[in-house]
Amino acid sequence: MYRTHNCGELRNENIGQTVVLSGWVQKIRNLGGMTFVDIRDRYGISQLVFDDKNQNLCDKARELGREYVIKIQGKVIERSNKNSKMPTGDIEIIVEELTVLNKSEIPPFTIEENTDGGDELRMKYRYLDLRRDSVKKNLILRHKMAHEVRNYLDENNFIEIETPILIKSTPEGARDFVVPSRMNKGEFYALPQSPQVFKQLLMISGFDRYYQIVKCFRDEDLRADRQPEFTQIDCEMSFAEQEDILNMFEGLAKHLFKNIKGVDFNDEFLRMTWADAMKYYGSDKPDLRFEMKFVDLSEIVKGNNFKIFDEAEYVGAICAESCASYSRKQLDALTDFVRRPQVGAKGLVYVKYNEDGTFKSSVDKFYSQEDLKKWADAFSAKPGDLLLILSGNRNETLTSLGQLRLEMANRLNLINNNKFAPLWVVDFPLFEWNEEAKRYTAMHHPFTSPKEEDIDMLDTNPGDVRANAYDLVINGVEIGGGSIRIHDNDVQQKMFKLLGFSKEAADSQFGFLMNAFKYGAPPHGGAAFGLDRWVALFSGLESIRDVIAFPKNNAGRDVMIDSPSIISDEQLKELNLKVTKEPS
Ligand code: AMO
Repeated sequence: MYRTHNCGELRNENIGQTVVLSGWVQKIRNLGGMTFVDIRDRYGISQLVFDDKNQNLCDKARELGREYVIKIQGKVIERSNKNSKMPTGDIEIIVEELTVLNKSEIPPFTIEENTDGGDELRMKYRYLDLRRDSVKKNLILRHKMAHEVRNYLDENNFIEIETPILIKSTPEGARDFVVPSRMNKGEFYALPQSPQVFKQLLMISGFDRYYQIVKCFRDEDLRADRQPEFTQIDCEMSFAEQEDILNMFEGLAKHLFKNIKGVDFNDEFLRMTWADAMKYYGSDKPDLRFEMKFVDLSEIVKGNNFKIFDEAEYVGAICAESCASYSRKQLDALTDFVRRPQVGAKGLVYVKYNEDGTFKSSVDKFYSQEDLKKWADAFSAKPGDLLLILSGNRNETLTSLGQLRLEMANRLNLINNNKFAPLWVVDFPLFEWNEEAKRYTAMHHPFTSPKEEDIDMLDTNPGDVRANAYDLVINGVEIGGGSIRIHDNDVQQKMFKLLGFSKEAADSQFGFLMNAFKYGAPPHGGAAFGLDRWVALFSGLESIRDVIAFPKNNAGRDVMIDSPSIISDEQLKELNLKVTKEPS
């Protein structure tokens, strides 16, 4: 028998019992005649004591090394020196028998919370990193969340159906990962960017409510919240309107908040139109844990011969409370921030509302104290506040101001990490103008339906057409999104046309779906949520890598298994492939 208990469960009530434990050696300390060994498994750590009255056993214990796998038998006794920080800290085990089940080489970094291992090293030995509590607990949380998702969806009549991984290009807008087919030489499968088309087909099949916790693959530039393979909670419902879907998945979010975080949301989640999110926060995923709403100053700043404002399509500002005392250096740092290529503004105008009621600004040459007072009043600003103003092209300036808003919130410590601010962003535009390609692309995907009342604009003003599309945003993170789908063949054909698909291209890519629509497609819609992002959010982590057992690095590599890697000439030949460029 390897164990009677695990390493985290022994308490006072076990005192006097003879127990068997198995686990890894966390730490060894020799103190006088005694040797103390901490034994660790998934459940916790227990302290073992080797008394030098049993010299043989003590000698054996002294030969143990970190991460050896051992089995012991011993008696649970009360600890004289209790450790209230450890759940098992009231007891220890006087060891009577010790078996080394497996030795370990000295691990490349310490398996402790404050490890000495750098990122790359820990990724290379991810299986050792996963022994660390902080990483392990994220995976346990992930498991609990997936379990609660299944509970909720099962209670609501959703059934989990698997869809294929070797498929054909999907329409989510990223690049596909492709897999060559040996049996069909010269042809390739694509890995799904999402199960989008399959879940729609399942609605046509009459399954009514589908879900799947599923891997998706997207070949796109990686960021803290993006991995090339990630997991979606993918859902679809038939005979459902937008309202039904928002209610169902708001229910899911509330279920997770309650059962995982112990947070009750009694009120309905806030709903904000995409237009308002952009207008007031410069982002389609506004972080509402703090306010700092934009004020549009475009009208009131014009006509004073300040060319930059006069010529700007948009002039907008945020008010940073109690920042009028910012020094030249601090303001310069903010100017440098907004000028970063990722932020994209040309410059920053500031107005200090001094404590004495006067104003000092970087545009004093053009504007009087009365003018500046009007701007401050537009915010209901108080003496001591600082206005930060950006100007230029409307959309770009809104986005830059959105980044400045987040930067200021960080500088001013306005973000409460224990707070959750969920909202639905609704009424997304159906299309997005792609300047490079000089054409519209689908903002969500080509199966998203336009709002009934906007359909007339499809021919005249496609850029203004709103979609039945929505995103769930929590604390500035896009947790999920979805839409009511087009279930009418004519509208779908029109959509493909507007997106620049020729009839042949649409047929070859989505003909099977169009065909299916001919056989009685129910009205349907759905959503998908990023499980990795949701777990990271609930763990208070920035990067989704920390909640994935075996993630890729920023170059899309798994440094542990060393992938991607080259394949043999034989494999290439079998696949009818020729590599023209060797890896650098
Ligand atoms: P969308 O493309 O918005 O919608 O994806 C849904 C959610 O998946 C997560 N996500 C990612 N997470 C980690 N790494 C990535 N590379 C990544 N890309 C997306 C996000 C996102 O909100 N088929 C539609 C859904 C639908 O219409 O029902 C879809 O995939 O949290």
